[in-house]
Amino acid sequence: MSKPALSIFYATETGNAESLAHQAHERAVAEGWSAATLQNISRLKPADLATYTLALFVVSTWGDGEPPSDATDFHYDLEKAQLDLSGLRYAILGLGDRDYSDFNGFARKLDERLTALGATPVLPRTEADLDFEDTYTAWADRLFPLIGEIVAA
Ligand SMILES: Cc1cc2nc3c(=O)[nH]c(=O)nc-3n(C[C@H](O)[C@H](O)[C@H](O)COP(=O)(O)O)c2cc1C
Repeated sequence: MSKPALSIFYATETGNAESLAHQAHERAVAEGWSAATLQNISRLKPADLATYTLALFVVSTWGDGEPPSDATDFHYDLEKAQLDLSGLRYAILGLGDRDYSDFNGFARKLDERLTALGATPVLPRTEADLDFEDTYTAWADRLFPLIGEIVAA
């Protein structure tokens, strides 16, 4: 059975989230998600999410709990959008630093907004600290079997 589209988005200031999103995309393709796509979140319009069934977000946090600059417009538009995202399942890996008071603030805001619009998380939001490579590996090892089960169901 061919797997459906898997849309992977990243939001980054200095490339960490982009690097992990690339790893996720490579893994997706290796595991048979031939229709997996990888894009910067700046290319995503909130309304497009209503047409997706499965999306992964790898996003860092900057400022004081704010999105990185490439995600500013998307975040603003998503906060205002009135959408039915009940057909969307998603997973979020956030990157941050526990020394900041609003640890992984943007990942949390994104998660809360997607849920408020009716989307369903595949697994609870994962918040990485500066050891994000290890956290990515644990997240992906949990995530990929889960999305495989969703497709098989
Ligand atoms: C100026 C600055 C502000 C930051 N603000 C936050 C923050 O508010 N919350 C947080 O969890 N991490 C914060 N971080 C940590 C970054 O999210 C972290 O370094 C992350 O790995 C960056 O990933 P990126 O390269 O994908 O942007 C900040 C880092 C810098 C340098």
